[in-house]
Amino acid sequence: AKSSNSFQEGTHYELDDQTNISPSILSKLSRNLHLQPHHPLFILRTQIEQHFPHFSYFNTFSPIVTVQKNFDDLGFPKEHPGRNKTDSYYINKQIMLRTHTSAHQLELFSKRNKKFLISGDVYRRDEIDSSHYPIFHQMEGAQIFNIQNAEQEISEDKKYLISLNLTTSKITPLRDNNEVNDDTIISANNPIQSCHPIEQVNFTIQHLKFSLNSLIKKLFVNYDENLKIRWIDAYFPFTSPSWEMEIFFKGKWLEICGCGIIEQEILNKAGQNDKIGWAFGLGLERIAMVLFDIPDIRLFWSHDNRFLNQFNNFNDNKIIKFQPFSKFPPCIKDISFWLNDQDFHENNFCEIIRNIAEDLVEDVKLIDEFVHPKTKKRSLCYRINYRSMDRTVTNEEINKIQKRVREDVTEKLNVTLR
Ligand code: PHE
Repeated sequence: AKSSNSFQEGTHYELDDQTNISPSILSKLSRNLHLQPHHPLFILRTQIEQHFPHFSYFNTFSPIVTVQKNFDDLGFPKEHPGRNKTDSYYINKQIMLRTHTSAHQLELFSKRNKKFLISGDVYRRDEIDSSHYPIFHQMEGAQIFNIQNAEQEISEDKKYLISLNLTTSKITPLRDNNEVNDDTIISANNPIQSCHPIEQVNFTIQHLKFSLNSLIKKLFVNYDENLKIRWIDAYFPFTSPSWEMEIFFKGKWLEICGCGIIEQEILNKAGQNDKIGWAFGLGLERIAMVLFDIPDIRLFWSHDNRFLNQFNNFNDNKIIKFQPFSKFPPCIKDISFWLNDQDFHENNFCEIIRNIAEDLVEDVKLIDEFVHPKTKKRSLCYRINYRSMDRTVTNEEINKIQKRVREDVTEKLNVTLR
């Protein structure tokens, strides 16, 4: 049976058996945090834009896109796990919430853009903790050069970038290990595309690394002069070679960006056969959490002025550190159940909790797992940490929520509560 629903003013979408989008997600579609003046994501977006002054900026594309744009156009294989209903939000078989801002690349190249930035909200079904939220924001960047004289175009652009960034004495020149080395190029797992002349790719890679390293150094200039950056080989269907960029933060490497040399197929489809170029996608919350010391990703969604007002007087020369208002006490509840089949997926479980508890759920952790020696049935125990960011929750209200969670879990997942 087909039903219809209006998700966006004036537009109706058919629902089908692929539909898995929930009211709590839909209610966030109009928030546009990256466009809200003084919001930390707005501040970060405009700082990144300042680093790429000759680019075109696209900040208002709708997050509702076709599966074609989000996956097919970018060369995602049919069996790519990102396409699964457990990982992405579908309105129906053809229409989904974008999982990344790369969904708009082909369109912009087709319209003959040569350098652009796109910012926007992206949606992924995920686990629940202080750094995961089903919506986050990305900033996509891309630049293409004429394949024949990439070298010249790039060295002119690089001179420009240097003059832009090295005026602040605090920014140290890039260390050698940030430059492309031969290992990167010949790595069999991360090959350059056979259609690309080696010299021209090499310049393009250097330009990508230079652009991103100088951006990150500039963003963090007041924060940590000796910020450690590393690039590791990665895989994306729409770039080759591909990397992830990581920064060293609180004793750990933190991934903040995926990037690479654009698959020529995509540029060819866009009618840009004579170009070569790079693209990146930065995770804005990750960077903002480090820069501004924001401890919980839910705070970005807060309407609380004790959060928002702290960013009102931001200027480039002053570091803003978020002053946490006192943490309200948590309310912790455990839930255990037997799995009746192999289909259990943690993202589905987390989605049920989120739909009921919304932003009152802070963290969901698997704390115990057990296989019955005779029946071989698996039992899981999860600890749900409920907490509000602006008030003390009562045990009574959380009990009600927990009761609904238990009911919904029984109804929607094939499990038996213990
Ligand atoms: N879209 C990728 C992601 O969301 C990041 C990326 C963008 C990688 C552009 C390469 C080029 O993970």
